[in-house]
Amino acid sequence: MIAKPVIAKPVIAKPVIAKPVIAKPVIAKTGTTKAVPLAEGFGADIQGVDLSQPVSDADRGTIYRTFLDHRVIRLRGQDLAPDNVLDASRILGPDLEAHLFKQFHHPDTPLIIILSNRRDTKTGAEKGLKNGGAFWHHDVSYKPEPAKATMLYAVEVPDEGGDTIFCDMTRAYDELSDDLKDRIAGRTAIHNYGYLKREIFTSGQAEVPPDCRHPVVRTHPETGRKALYINPSYTVRIEGLEEAESDALKQKIFEHCLQEKYLMHYKWQAGDVVAWDNAASMHTATTDKLDPAKYRTLWRTIVSGGPTM
Ligand code: SIN
Repeated sequence: MIAKPVIAKPVIAKPVIAKPVIAKPVIAKTGTTKAVPLAEGFGADIQGVDLSQPVSDADRGTIYRTFLDHRVIRLRGQDLAPDNVLDASRILGPDLEAHLFKQFHHPDTPLIIILSNRRDTKTGAEKGLKNGGAFWHHDVSYKPEPAKATMLYAVEVPDEGGDTIFCDMTRAYDELSDDLKDRIAGRTAIHNYGYLKREIFTSGQAEVPPDCRHPVVRTHPETGRKALYINPSYTVRIEGLEEAESDALKQKIFEHCLQEKYLMHYKWQAGDVVAWDNAASMHTATTDKLDPAKYRTLWRTIVSGGPTM
């Protein structure tokens, strides 16, 4: 059984300091629903939608538009059953996919994976994937058809620690030097789930899919904006370059992306629903640093994407 949400004390996500390239102010409003930027140009809070109830077409449109414009969306104060989480995820795309780790699928549906550091009090068995994303990545970039969106619903959160950090790969691309833009223009890169050696591989929990390839710069199929689409955890090599040259180029690009001005540190509250656009951002959990005496349980869905461009 997943514990009922503990209402954590409200903490506002730390704002990004730098100026945006494109700042969208408060955007589409439908009835009492509105979207307010969390940090200028990256991340928005959608207010006035109860995801445990049927969501009107107009509100679905607002949520989707906000997702495209702001790349990370947050709806606070939700109290959701698994079906509500699936319905909410389908606002972002019709097809959801199950995670590779079957042992942590929600008992009601394989389309939700449980991220949790809780253990069964009797057997000691892990109740969820405890540290599945504490490394910079785009979700599912290790498959030819990567994730379009990811949604997390916070069931319980610690009073400190366990934040998720997002990186705005659209703005990072926009502000990349012309020299680096030229060096990656038209290039592709190889991605592999097992590139970054992690505990899960030695424990035999994960099957590693074969290598796949994606453009280093993706043009978003809906917004038309370009974003960097390599990440430190799954991107093995930029094709057409010697390994050392590829490593050095990746390193330069990651140093650029991981400047504080492109990051948003997200502090969770129980009842938060957060979703992000994987074509336009990368992220990392910080669960590797979480005090084991503090509990964090989130439900996660993946919205499948289309072919990358
Ligand atoms: C993920 O990488 O999808 C999960 C992020 C988190 O647990 O904060």
